[in-house]
Amino acid sequence: MSEPKSAIVTGASSGIGRAIALELAKAGWRLGLVGRDAVRLADVARACGGDVSTAALDMRDKAGFAEFVAKFGALDLYISNHGILDGRREGQIVETGSVADEVLAINLTSAIAALHEVLLVMQGRGKGQIVLVSSLGGLSPLPDAPAYSASKAGLVMYGLSLREALRGTGVGVSVCCPGYVSSPMQSKHLGHRPHEITPEDAARRIVKGALANKRLFGFPAPLWPEALFSLLVPAGVLRWFNGKLRFTVGKG
Ligand SMILES: NC(=O)c1ccc[n+]([C@@H]2O[C@H](COP(=O)([O-])OP(=O)(O)OC[C@H]3O[C@@H](n4cnc5c(N)ncnc54)[C@H](OP(=O)(O)O)[C@@H]3O)[C@@H](O)[C@H]2O)c1
Repeated sequence: MSEPKSAIVTGASSGIGRAIALELAKAGWRLGLVGRDAVRLADVARACGGDVSTAALDMRDKAGFAEFVAKFGALDLYISNHGILDGRREGQIVETGSVADEVLAINLTSAIAALHEVLLVMQGRGKGQIVLVSSLGGLSPLPDAPAYSASKAGLVMYGLSLREALRGTGVGVSVCCPGYVSSPMQSKHLGHRPHEITPEDAARRIVKGALANKRLFGFPAPLWPEALFSLLVPAGVLRWFNGKLRFTVGKG
C-alpha cells in the first residue's frame, strides 16, 4: 500500500484554511495544521479525523514553525494560507503605520520565511507543491488597505519568481488569488462584497489548482479578469469599476 499524501496548511484554524484541511482530509491526506487559536485548531483537527498533527503558533515564530516542519517529515503539499485583513478605519483616509507594519509582517515576511523551511524538505526530496494564497487585491490596488494589497502583491511576485527559479527541480509553485470569500475575516470588511463564495467552494478551487500545478489562478470569474487587467487600464476607469467596492475595516 502506498503512503498517504501529506500536506501542511497554515491558517487552518478558520475560514478557507479550515475548509482546505477538511477537503484534503476527505481524500485521506496526512495533515499538519497551523493556526494561532489552539482551541479552534483542535476542533478542525477533530473534524478532519485521521492522521493530523497541529501547531498552535504565530507564523512570525520562525523557530517554532521550523521545528514543526522538521518533525512533520515528508511533505508533498504546502498551502501558505495564513493572513490578516487590516486597513483604514471609519474616519481615516489611510491606514496607520502600525497597521501596515503588522499586515506586512504576518502576510508577507512570515510567509516568505516559512517557505524556506518548507523548501529545505521539498528540495531534499526533489518533489513537492507549494501554493501561496494571495488575493485579487494583490493584483488590483486597494486604496482602503494598501499594506494588505502590497502584502498580497508581494506573494504573487515571490511565488511566480520562485516557480521560475525552481523549474526542473521537481518542486512546483502556484499562486492563487481569491475574491470575496464568506469567512470570519470578512466580518472585519465593512463594505460591498460582490460574487462572494463560500470557504468550501474556495478550498475546492485552491486544491484543484494546486494539484494541477497551475501557475497563477483566481476566482470568481467576473472579478478575476478585471483584477488581471487593473494595471493596464487608466486610473479613472479602475476608479469607476471599483467605486462600489470601497470599504473600511471594523473590529470583526
Ligand atoms: N476571505 C476573503 O474574502 C479572502 C479573499 C482573498 C484572500 N483571502 C486570503 O485567504 C487567506 C485565509 O483567509 P480567511 O478568509 O480564511 O480568513 P480567516 O477566517 O480570518 O482565517 C485566517 C487564518 O490565518 C491565521 N492567522 C492569521 N494571522 C496569523 C499568524 N500571525 N500566525 C499564524 N496564523 C495566523 C488565523 O489563525 P487564528 O484564527 O487561529 O488566529 C486563521 O486560521 C488569507 O491569507 C486571506 O488574506 C481571503
